[in-house]
Amino acid sequence: MSLNSFAHLYEEATIVESRPSVLDILDNYAPQLHSDMSILDLACGSGTVTRVIHEQCSAKNIKPPRIVGVDIGDMFIEAFNENKKAYGWETAQGFVGDASDLHMCKDGEFDLVIMNYGLFAVADAVANKVTAEIRRVLKPGGRAFFTVWRDNFISRMFQGTNRAVGRPQEEVDRHDLGKWSLAETSHDTLVAGGFEPSKVKHFRHDDTFGLANQKSLVDRFDQPFWKNVGTAAWTDDQKPRWRAEVEKLILKEQEERGGLQANCWIFVAEK
Ligand SMILES: C[S@@+](CC[C@H](N)C(=O)[O-])C[C@H]1O[C@@H](n2cnc3c(N)ncnc32)[C@H](O)[C@@H]1O
Repeated sequence: MSLNSFAHLYEEATIVESRPSVLDILDNYAPQLHSDMSILDLACGSGTVTRVIHEQCSAKNIKPPRIVGVDIGDMFIEAFNENKKAYGWETAQGFVGDASDLHMCKDGEFDLVIMNYGLFAVADAVANKVTAEIRRVLKPGGRAFFTVWRDNFISRMFQGTNRAVGRPQEEVDRHDLGKWSLAETSHDTLVAGGFEPSKVKHFRHDDTFGLANQKSLVDRFDQPFWKNVGTAAWTDDQKPRWRAEVEKLILKEQEERGGLQANCWIFVAEK
């Protein structure tokens, strides 16, 4: 089941997890935003990164920089363009495209590339090409930022619900963070794309959420986006079990870990 089919529901469903890492990057690792910059929001989805950049510029009274959004999902770019219209992102442009072939971008075009929760989403066979393309489109001295999950309730939620209703093991395993939870995987992928090892650094970004209100959390994961993505392959007998199984997992997570974890690596690679 491709996320692309649920692109219009994606942003509001995932913003809680996907936004804090972008704020952390902009506040603590990226150069100050200014209007003469060019930024690539790669694997942009409906534009979470672009939205946060615009909010920061408006808070600081800065004219927004030029932003190019690229995503392989046509429905995501449709949603990006709707956001562009709704929020007045005049300096942003969205393109349907594969991160491993950024032919619409010139060599050395961008000061910053931000790929928020995108590197692990590309096919393994092209991951090294993606980082090579990012390096190509960065200006000398430009910086690329990547976030990849390290420890995440959502992957445990998908694994646990699939296991509980008796789905085949390969459907459970598909949601394992696997090798991308290890820093070496992103590091090696960046170096394979041509970044010098001494110019690749990584940091931890940790969020815990969900302590306040149990019911609203269960309601949140019972929304159409999570339910549709989680149960797409399930039988009609299995689908009604989604909410109860999610609730059990939230309780377990809160007991064992004190809240729902959304912990990632932030990678910074300089050209
Ligand atoms: C988890 S979402 C992240 C979206 C957004 N960056 C955010 O912060 O919410 C992963 C995105 O990667 C996109 N994607 C997957 N493979 C891609 C590829 N080869 N090239 C470009 N985008 C890709 C998907 O369509 C999806 O929008």
